[in-house]
Amino acid sequence: MSNSTGRRKVAFFVIFTAAILLVIFLIPFVEAFVREQVATRFGLVITADGKVLSASENAGSGLVSATAFELIINIFRLLKVFLLMALVIAIVRLIAFAIFSTALRGAEKLEIASLAKTVFSVVIYIVSFFIIFQSQYPNVQLAPLFTGSTIIGIVVGLALQDTLGNLFAGIALQADQPFQVGDVISISNRGTGVVESVSWRGVRVRTFQQKLMVISNSVLGKETIEVAPRDGLNARLVFFNTLYRISPARTTNAVQEAIRNVENVARKPVPIVRIRGLGESGIDWEVKYWCEDYRRYNETDALVRERIWYAFNREGIDFAFPTRTLRIESGHVAGSEDQIVMATATMIGRVPIFEPLSSDELAQIAQESEHRVFARGETIVRQGSDGDSMFIILRGSVRVQVPGEKKTKTIGRLRSNDFFGEMGLLTGEPRSATVAAEDETEVLEIKKETLASLFVTNPGLMEAIAAIAELRRPTLEVGPDTIGFEKAAKEGTVLNSLRRFFGLKH
Ligand code: CMP
Repeated sequence: MSNSTGRRKVAFFVIFTAAILLVIFLIPFVEAFVREQVATRFGLVITADGKVLSASENAGSGLVSATAFELIINIFRLLKVFLLMALVIAIVRLIAFAIFSTALRGAEKLEIASLAKTVFSVVIYIVSFFIIFQSQYPNVQLAPLFTGSTIIGIVVGLALQDTLGNLFAGIALQADQPFQVGDVISISNRGTGVVESVSWRGVRVRTFQQKLMVISNSVLGKETIEVAPRDGLNARLVFFNTLYRISPARTTNAVQEAIRNVENVARKPVPIVRIRGLGESGIDWEVKYWCEDYRRYNETDALVRERIWYAFNREGIDFAFPTRTLRIESGHVAGSEDQIVMATATMIGRVPIFEPLSSDELAQIAQESEHRVFARGETIVRQGSDGDSMFIILRGSVRVQVPGEKKTKTIGRLRSNDFFGEMGLLTGEPRSATVAAEDETEVLEIKKETLASLFVTNPGLMEAIAAIAELRRPTLEVGPDTIGFEKAAKEGTVLNSLRRFFGLKH
């Protein structure tokens, strides 16, 4: 409110009050004049409490004029009641105006406080009316009027049913304060928007289409309201989907990276990317993020979706679309399988111990082995379990762990082009350690049979693998006889024992 409006209001108040006080001041003089000059002329006496008595014997005309005088005296009194009430209203309004324009200037809860102001003012008006009325009519009992009159109660009650309903619902809302100006609320079956004001009649909500929704308090009291407080961080869920062939870890990383710097997305808590379900066309995902300013969630949701699109585009991740996969069992898709074998053979060739093998031998391993993908944290081999295969890491990294004194101890880390599981493969003994994926990891599992045939033509291969197993063994710090090497060592050379195990000639 501007200063000039304030000044105008004060000036109006001063003039208004002065006028009322002047009239109130003049009334007793007029009354005295009526009493002393006019009434006596009609032969009437007006008592202090307003009774009109006849002083002459002329009963007929005296009765008429007495009634008229009583009426005049009552008009004076009612005028005084009216003027004093006007004065009270003016004072209350001025005080309220002063409080609102100074103490509460710019306060966020201004609208909520206006409800308190209304209730407070009404109470003052009622009390003042009682006092003023009783001062003018001390003999009239007002209290029974309010307590005893059922008819008035019913009539007033019916007439004010909605207004009072709103008022009390508004008071309950004020006491409860489930939401405040600036909060985003969703009212079931009615809509969503930002609270603009809360008054004793109802709540004004600005929808996201910039429309004003006015809901009365009594209606609001019966609805379920979802509140997103303005000061708190509120979470949002954005849904998307990917094709089944895209691994979860890739999607999670891409989405987390994509929305890291989106405006209005809180950095903490960190957004959560998770699988909602396995749909008909692909994997259904959701990303849960926290909004700094919830009033702008529509734009932020859109921005998050946009960033996901760009990230997917860069990473070669496809959104799922309704798809049907046709598998033609007898058919052969030209080239594709051969290409995979060739690519795998090339990757095996990069592992130093397999370097000496011919391309046909590498292709043989590629063909007879299995690709397996493990998520971060998944166990690939577990200590103590049986296993007669070894693994080459094609992508990702793993951690080799054994039980420590108090907690698990990591004794090695391996990455692309490394291998593990050779001890179980060479000796047939249970796995000596647990190997778990550190990132999403793709491994190639090579069976004992595949290697056994290659050991015949490449005796150096077995020696190379055994040498690495020998190097790794001391770090396991295991007791004697727990793995086959100890046994093998007792029986002769490690290599001889391995040859026997694989059924090879010395
Ligand atoms: P295996 O015993 O079949 O299963 C667990 C595997 O962990 C083991 O073969 C080795 O390949 C591997 N491993 C054991 N100790 C180490 C180590 N110190 N460094 C790297 N790998 C190891």
